[in-house]
Amino acid sequence: MPATSLEQIVSLAKRRGFVFPSSSVYGGLASTWDYGPLGVELKNNVKRAWWKAVVHDRDDMEGFDAAIVMNRLVWKYSGHEATFSDPMTDCRNCKARPRADHVFAAQKGRDPKNLDEINAAIAAKELKCPKCASTDLTAARPFNLMFRTTVGAVDTGDDSGLAYLRPETAQGIFVNFGNVLDTMRRKLPFGIAQIGKAFRNEITPGNFTFRTREFEQMEIEYFVRPGEDEAAHQAWIDARKQWYRDLGMRPENLREREQSKDELAHYAKRCVDLEYKFPMGWSELEGIANRTDYDLKAHSRSEQNPDAVGSLTYFDQQAKQHIVPYVIEPSAGADRATLAFLCDAYEDALVKDPPAEETTKLRELVESFVKSTAKRESLAKDVKDRLVAEGEAIASALPGSLPRLLGLMEDTEANKIEVMKKLRGVGEKIAEEHTRTVLHLHPRLAPITVAVFPLKKNEGPLVESAKSIRQELRQAGLRVVYDDTGAIGKLYRRQDEIGTPWCITVDFQTLQDGTVTVRDRDTMKQERVAAKELPGSLSARVR
Ligand code: GAP
Repeated sequence: MPATSLEQIVSLAKRRGFVFPSSSVYGGLASTWDYGPLGVELKNNVKRAWWKAVVHDRDDMEGFDAAIVMNRLVWKYSGHEATFSDPMTDCRNCKARPRADHVFAAQKGRDPKNLDEINAAIAAKELKCPKCASTDLTAARPFNLMFRTTVGAVDTGDDSGLAYLRPETAQGIFVNFGNVLDTMRRKLPFGIAQIGKAFRNEITPGNFTFRTREFEQMEIEYFVRPGEDEAAHQAWIDARKQWYRDLGMRPENLREREQSKDELAHYAKRCVDLEYKFPMGWSELEGIANRTDYDLKAHSRSEQNPDAVGSLTYFDQQAKQHIVPYVIEPSAGADRATLAFLCDAYEDALVKDPPAEETTKLRELVESFVKSTAKRESLAKDVKDRLVAEGEAIASALPGSLPRLLGLMEDTEANKIEVMKKLRGVGEKIAEEHTRTVLHLHPRLAPITVAVFPLKKNEGPLVESAKSIRQELRQAGLRVVYDDTGAIGKLYRRQDEIGTPWCITVDFQTLQDGTVTVRDRDTMKQERVAAKELPGSLSARVR
């Protein structure tokens, strides 16, 4: 059973050291997250896999790492200072500050054409505050999403030291196009890839790490001759989709979405979003745009840009003239990709049926939950209907629906119903013995590749042998841990929950013939294998 709600992922992430709410000792900071010991390994593996695929495994790409704080003029001429904003309106009645374009879209059933259209609708009292339904809304004003900072020791108050934390990594690549072209003696087509932090003062962050104010991007700017742009664009759409598939993402959870003419940025010729089916619905994972020659022209000296020192052009030997290349931009989020891989890998599974009397008790509690929910007047109708339907479906299919009950037990709304406390007490105990949570992460992404256990922790030779196998696997470049802190079954379960593909148990037979038991996370099958073959065979499966 895959995760039915993001809360299941959040709960596992916190419980097992993937992601924690940031600054939690001071009560946290809204929508800000810290990656724990396993989370940083997973995200690093995602970034490493991306870098390998788009830089090391290709002949037409270079890597780059630009500064986060750049000359303010970069953001003036990229257009971000003037236009990187969301329109906000204030409700004079309840003081809410919603995004005006979202209010317009929700209440008119279509996106607004521009700010004027939103403000005409506000003036005509056609839009209501989504919180209190008042039509007393202020005219919408643009709210710039860039975080401001000051460069230098003194803030003079006149904006002379004003700088921004970059809202995207892309511009650092555009303004360095000439440097890379000259130093690496590149010919078109070629691209530049960069991974780095970006910052946006998002109005509505949320859905865990899906939308945050500080995040990491993995961006490519691929430069081509005008006329060769459409084929290169399609090739990147296919390559980027294949990358997610190669790392195990289920095809049914990944789709392409062509942006409509209305959605396209003014400079874009075409843009295709790769979307993932997150528990909250289909959402953007990566955008792949044909940005034409807009960016290189914007940062080249011209009447519109007297501040640039030169031209970001390419001398075409065949045509014997300078041209401005077109740019194809596959732009992905490292945090969003990590979240998608986590969601895709998650499974709660029943491993054995609980005794009949335990199932009966559980069914009675779920039925009681359904009754209480149906009676609860303070619940919104759509929430009530969803919880009742889910409870009824679970009650009618127990014990097979036990994994599904785990999802309900993590649901924030369901936890507002009194009987859920009792249901959780009973359900969690039964689930612990009869279900397992597994992360079916691709071996290349899993935070830990192999866990090695001695059958008995008090038997010196077993411990010694297990530690020496760990060392050999480490030398083969694998991420390996040794654990002797529980019974083997419990250790398997712990490793399943964090996505470790293989567990190795060293027992008395190992001391005689050098073989160990290798247990596969996905099939739970155990195989007897010669320990000396493992470094070679396992590292081949991770490459
Ligand atoms: N240079 C183009 C660009 O930045 P974007 O669609 O704004 O395009 C690209 O961002 C990707 O960056 C998104 O597809 C998403 O994966 C990630 N991203 C954007 N905003 C984000 C946020 N607030 N939190 C997490 N990831 C974000």
